Amino acid sequence: MVFYMPEHSGEAEPLDTDHMSPKQIVAELDRHVVGQKKAKRAVAIALRNRVRRQRLPKEMADEVAPKNIIMIGPTGVGKTEIARRLARMTSSPFIKVEASKFTEVGYVGRDVESMIRDLTDMAVELVRREKAAEVRRQAEQNTEDRLLNLLLPPPPPAPPTPKPAAGEAPASAAAEGSGADDSRASYLRSREKLRDKLRRGEMEDRPLEMEVAETGNMPSFKLWTNQGMEEMNINMKDALGGLFGRGPKKRSRLKVSEARDQILKEEEEKLIDQAQVARIAVDRVEQSGIVFLDEIDKVAGRQQAGQGPDVSREGVQRDLLPIVEGTLVNTKFGQVRTDHILFVASGAFHVAKPSDLIPELQGRFPIRVELDALGKKEFVRILTEPHASLTKQYTALMETEGVRLEFTADGLDAIADCAATVNEATENIGARRLQTIMERLLEEILFQGSELEDRNPVIDRDFVNKRLADVVEDRDLSRYIL
Ligand SMILES: Nc1ncnc2c1ncn2[C@@H]1O[C@H](COP(=O)(O)OP(=O)(O)O)[C@@H](O)[C@H]1O
Ligand SMILES: [Mg+2]
Repeated sequence: MVFYMPEHSGEAEPLDTDHMSPKQIVAELDRHVVGQKKAKRAVAIALRNRVRRQRLPKEMADEVAPKNIIMIGPTGVGKTEIARRLARMTSSPFIKVEASKFTEVGYVGRDVESMIRDLTDMAVELVRREKAAEVRRQAEQNTEDRLLNLLLPPPPPAPPTPKPAAGEAPASAAAEGSGADDSRASYLRSREKLRDKLRRGEMEDRPLEMEVAETGNMPSFKLWTNQGMEEMNINMKDALGGLFGRGPKKRSRLKVSEARDQILKEEEEKLIDQAQVARIAVDRVEQSGIVFLDEIDKVAGRQQAGQGPDVSREGVQRDLLPIVEGTLVNTKFGQVRTDHILFVASGAFHVAKPSDLIPELQGRFPIRVELDALGKKEFVRILTEPHASLTKQYTALMETEGVRLEFTADGLDAIADCAATVNEATENIGARRLQTIMERLLEEILFQGSELEDRNPVIDRDFVNKRLADVVEDRDLSRYIL
């Protein structure tokens, strides 16, 4: 069981939502996202229901369909942020795709299935990492031995000592044997000395030659991009080929530190059962995969005869439907059943409404949660409360140069005020506005950095007004700058 410890605020260890109650999941989301209780509760319940389902007898478990969610709310209020945080908290395979992506030329049709393939790739990587951690010790030992072999090639094995013929003086045979033993023993001594040096990190830059698989890089999975999915699949295959040692090899000169990384990967792959990894990964996608379908409203729209874009939008929905309803998708790791994958969709639904989705798809997203628009009060909280809020980020950045930023309460109030005013006057982009405002506000300080005369700049209402008032008041200007 993994507990979240407030003191250890690092994000490195994924929390394990499988062991968290909905309340704990919401509490964890609260650390990063201000407000939006309903949406947090909905995703927390959905996550917990999956764990509950897996505890049911099989016939029952098969019947329980995931309760997919649509998050509805204006732009910049935390929809994607909730999904992003959720992804980091869960050990479930998770992918975020923009539904609108599928309307693009060349992305209509079968490519909708590619999100399941990507999700499976992700799961394979996830499981592979877990397995790698399990064999890490052994892999490291093997790696060290192989490095030593490269640095200090072992002497050729001594030729088998001929059996002393009967009657021959045993003394000569013994002398010969001990000579071989001596050189072997001295080799072993040097090897252990080298091992010590290696462990002390004294050999890191020493060059050596080794066979390197030409495409031996780890496949890199991009969780947050969905550009060029098909392309990625192809690269993946190449990368995996190299990873499994099937890629072409060539002799290269490497530093010990580089060689170690390379060999460690190879040794890990040798110790990992790839077929098992694929099996577990597919199972995990089927049982606990999560697809976040961002901007679903972009593919909603009333069918109007003869209008191209809408036809293609409905086409995307029709392609999505079987996947959301449950179908088999072919992946290179085997067939994946999508029946129990959880879908969380989100959209602003300014123009189109959820009721503009095709009815079958509406039925598959029974849970609707609305996110609240954000105002000045929330902006103050967003500026200060989240674990890595903007004020904390800027303060930390400046601290690296010995400058202590200080935000006063009336200063924060003024910043939030500006954000709300500009949102009203121009376009409401929610909390995103805070980013442009802060950047503008602190521009001079960021530029001067360690050359600042005042090492303890205080950001109070005066400071904010001086820097921002003119821009905020001029609507045309703020349209460009903020
Ligand atoms: N409720 C919130 N609490 C904290 N930060 C927020 C909140 N809403 C938005 N933000 C910040 O604003 C930015 C945009 O939010 P995002 O979730 O991407 O918007 P959208 O609702 O359009 O998906 C993010 O950087 C996020 O940190
Ligand atoms: Mg978004």
